[in-house]
Amino acid sequence: MAGRIPQTFIDELLNRVDIVDVIDARVPLKKAGREFSACCPFHNEKTPSFTVSQAKQFYHCFGCGAHGSAIGFLMDYEHMEFPEAVEELARAAGLEVPREAGAARQDQQRLDNHFTLLERAERFYRNQLREHPQASKAIEYLKNRGLSGEVAKQFALGYAPPGWDNLLRHLGSDAQAQKLALELGLLIRRDDGGLYDRFRDRIMFPIRDRRGRTIAFGGRVLGDEKPKYMNSPESAVFHKGEQLYGLFEARKVNQKLERLLVVEGYMDVVALAQFGMNNAVATLGTATTPEHLERLYRTVKEVVFCFDGDNAGRRAAWRALENALPALRDGREARFLFLPEGEDPDSLIRKIGFEDFLRNTVESIPLSQFFYEHLTRQVDISTREGRAHLVEMARPLLEKLPDSVFRDLMLDRLTEISGVNEEKLRKRIQGPETTPPPAQQAAPATGRSPLVRTAIRLLLEQPGLAQECPDTARFRDLRLAGVPLLCELIDILKDSPHLSTAGLLDRMRGRSESSHLAKLAAQPMEIADNYGEEFSGAIQRLIEQRNYQRSSELIAKGYDNLTETEKTEWSQLLGPRHPVTD
Ligand code: GTP
Ligand code: MN
Repeated sequence: MAGRIPQTFIDELLNRVDIVDVIDARVPLKKAGREFSACCPFHNEKTPSFTVSQAKQFYHCFGCGAHGSAIGFLMDYEHMEFPEAVEELARAAGLEVPREAGAARQDQQRLDNHFTLLERAERFYRNQLREHPQASKAIEYLKNRGLSGEVAKQFALGYAPPGWDNLLRHLGSDAQAQKLALELGLLIRRDDGGLYDRFRDRIMFPIRDRRGRTIAFGGRVLGDEKPKYMNSPESAVFHKGEQLYGLFEARKVNQKLERLLVVEGYMDVVALAQFGMNNAVATLGTATTPEHLERLYRTVKEVVFCFDGDNAGRRAAWRALENALPALRDGREARFLFLPEGEDPDSLIRKIGFEDFLRNTVESIPLSQFFYEHLTRQVDISTREGRAHLVEMARPLLEKLPDSVFRDLMLDRLTEISGVNEEKLRKRIQGPETTPPPAQQAAPATGRSPLVRTAIRLLLEQPGLAQECPDTARFRDLRLAGVPLLCELIDILKDSPHLSTAGLLDRMRGRSESSHLAKLAAQPMEIADNYGEEFSGAIQRLIEQRNYQRSSELIAKGYDNLTETEKTEWSQLLGPRHPVTD
């Protein structure tokens, strides 16, 4: 099967296809001046704020901030994974997707072998549920939990029989299969070198990826033994923090899901499906990670997080909220469903049935409400100090939200609650674009720089400008917000001179800066020509500022304390024009 897709092919593909055709085939576009526009397919709106630029080959919605290249559009609109979207575009353009050979192909072969072995194990466990002499107790257990044969089939449930070597014997003396099963954690090696089955006398839940391939297992004991659940360890094909149990099954029932429910346990997912709620997924014993959220919102617009109503549940919900914030551009919604004391989704749906459970999810609490309820509970908002504290707590969280109508509404609400005047709040709470990237946080940022912004905008307008730019090392260490990003963009463009604006933005996919960049790229420039002059002027001024910053540092150190290299630097920077004084 396939290896990695070379980046050069992706660049080439984006140069070949026309994003206007790609989008127009799915969302009819109207010509509006130099651009094309439509009502945004990613959020509800009556007047079009979705624009497609043919020159830059990318789309951007001024309403919700959705943006990207033709590849990104297919990923979001058709819910495709990256390689799928590339394949689709290549097909339309009549190109064959090349794959990197060598190590990558060997890796792929190894992965394929893993998948094959997992499939074999899954079939084995499924057959044991029907054939093993003790299968009746497993079937009895599932029946007692109210599960039908049908739902067991839907989730490919199986049974790992009692005993230390059932799977081992099934794999036989095939050394290759044993090695793979060991790597996947289905077998464990004893100190004396012998092998034994990890899963024994357990109900088996195959964990499947989006495409339905089994990548791991969860196993539950039939009684009260400990540990109650056991999962496959992480492996080459199983990364816990990314996977959502039940996503494949939910999408199989309904390709056009509107809402997903995030619950805690395997049994919850299966029991909800038994009752007709086929849209629940579970994280695998971990908190909801940003990777989970990306996956969730790639599939649906609305995510309902389901938690226990107790304190631990509320803490877990708050963690999910914090992780969800950066993903919440307009059109995406997060809600919270707190369950009554002592219930989980499995027990609750049995008690109240499908209709009432569905109503509960529909009437769950919106994120904005949970957000302010949680924060105001921690302060006394009748006092000035309490309100100030509230603003301080809300600030870093709101800064995580992408620039959007939703963010504005959240700020409005903070104004209402805190009584702090809106303009002041907006000054204190910056957009994500002005927060320096983590690596730079230690360096004092001198604030938003119009110079950097102009340089970036010019680059987005005419990526070719990077070719004339001096080495970025000459201003890379200037402590000014946005400089590292600017340097990165220039370096990318120097490496790949034929990159279009869309190609450049595509390299930034998934990064926190990407929505800001798309927005900059979408705005028309005030400068009509002389882009080249503007750009080199801006870079020149950045180099001057950097030199000034550096000479101040050297002066602060004192000439006598400098190393030889620094002394050379000193004379270059300060030159003979400046008499050396101490
Ligand atoms: P049931 O008792 O079968 O209803 O399980 P549940 O789905 O209600 O599970 P519970 O609320 O106890 O736990 C939720 C999830 O946490 C499970 O689905 C597992 O993923 C995980 N979990 C629970 N117990 C264990 C354990 O002992 N070990 C591990 N590794 N994970 C566990
Ligand atoms: Mn349970």
